[in-house]
Amino acid sequence: MKILSIETSCDDTGISILEVTKKGKKTTFKVLVNLVHSQIEIHSPYGGVFPALAKREHLKNLPILLEKALKKAKLPLGGSVAKSIDLITVTSGPGLEPALWTGIVFAKELSKKWKIPLVPANHMEGHIFSVFAKNLKIFDIPKIDFPALSLLVSGGHTELVLIKENTSARSGSAFGGKYQIIGETLDDAVGEAFDKVARMMELPYPGGPEISHLAEEARKLKITNYELGIKLPRPMIYSKNFDFSFSGLKTAVLYLIRNLKKEDSNILQNNKTPTSKGVGVPTLSVGIKQAIALEFENAVVETLIYKTQKAIEKYQIKTLIVGGGVSANKYLKKEILRLRQNFGETRKNLNIYFPNKKLSGDNALMIGIAGYFKYEQNPKKKYQIKAEGGLKL
Ligand code: KG4
Ligand code: ZN
Repeated sequence: MKILSIETSCDDTGISILEVTKKGKKTTFKVLVNLVHSQIEIHSPYGGVFPALAKREHLKNLPILLEKALKKAKLPLGGSVAKSIDLITVTSGPGLEPALWTGIVFAKELSKKWKIPLVPANHMEGHIFSVFAKNLKIFDIPKIDFPALSLLVSGGHTELVLIKENTSARSGSAFGGKYQIIGETLDDAVGEAFDKVARMMELPYPGGPEISHLAEEARKLKITNYELGIKLPRPMIYSKNFDFSFSGLKTAVLYLIRNLKKEDSNILQNNKTPTSKGVGVPTLSVGIKQAIALEFENAVVETLIYKTQKAIEKYQIKTLIVGGGVSANKYLKKEILRLRQNFGETRKNLNIYFPNKKLSGDNALMIGIAGYFKYEQNPKKKYQIKAEGGLKL
């Protein structure tokens, strides 16, 4: 069967067409097309996503992307496309509601016009499934060793999700929806913290890749925290639960920059190494931006790793799935892969999945997979779809 999927939860307009085949328990997805239209340039001057603009852009881009996608997938345009597509799936949440609605209304119209079933998909479930699309061409859903844990890190979410095998799920279903959020952020999401700190550092939006790049430059020089003279908190690292908090860390950066600017108001523009008050030492060949980026990224990654490791131990996790935009962070990936060594013999066979770099951000391909498995659970079900900004797994 062929699935048309639509994603408009934030600032990326995504349309994808997948062809699914099932042989026994094996489900294979062939990617006919996967298009993502990023709105970064439009939102960049605002330092974050501006919902009304996102809505306007999705409305403009959806018909254009659909036509492109059908052409690329060599499917007929116009009415006869109805015979080629078997299912439509659209993100219904979580996300920005005005943005979500654009995709939902568009999907509903197509579903009505073409008389094709429409299934809603959860954006976060999409990020979980995204890890299976290894090569963006053709891929199977592997057999997962349960219990699994997913660390979801994006611009809107930071959560640890325990995934248990759903024995009542229909055969071929990868997970079947047995999710339990065991920890989440109490305030800012990790990607949001990256973006806000980047803004304080006068870096462009989105800030995650910018900070990560600067941090790598400093990390290469093998500078210790002592040499840097900058120390940021590791929020909630010793709390007994699996929750996170990043707003205190963000505020700590705000105060740090405010103090540095008292000494030299152009310190960021000149990216100098400060010489007084113990912040940095003049001999270091690293600018203040690299120094802050390194310590900030260290603080974030240490916190994420610490809680993830605890959860793996407590729930005897066999598979770890990392998803969401921040999963593109190189240092986070390196430290996650190092987790296996930390466990020694006990969890040395821990399976670890990351998305293909092209799928770590928002895309419709992952929505196609999530929507397909939802459809498979109950093919006859008719859904009343509405945008749910706070939809949980
Ligand atoms: O999943 P995503 O594309 O959109 C949401 O659903 O939120 O995640 C976007 C977030 C942004 O906050 C962006 O700054 C962050 O992912 N991000 C990164 C990196 N690449 C993207 N954060 C840290 N390091 C990166 N390399
Ligand atoms: Zn996302």
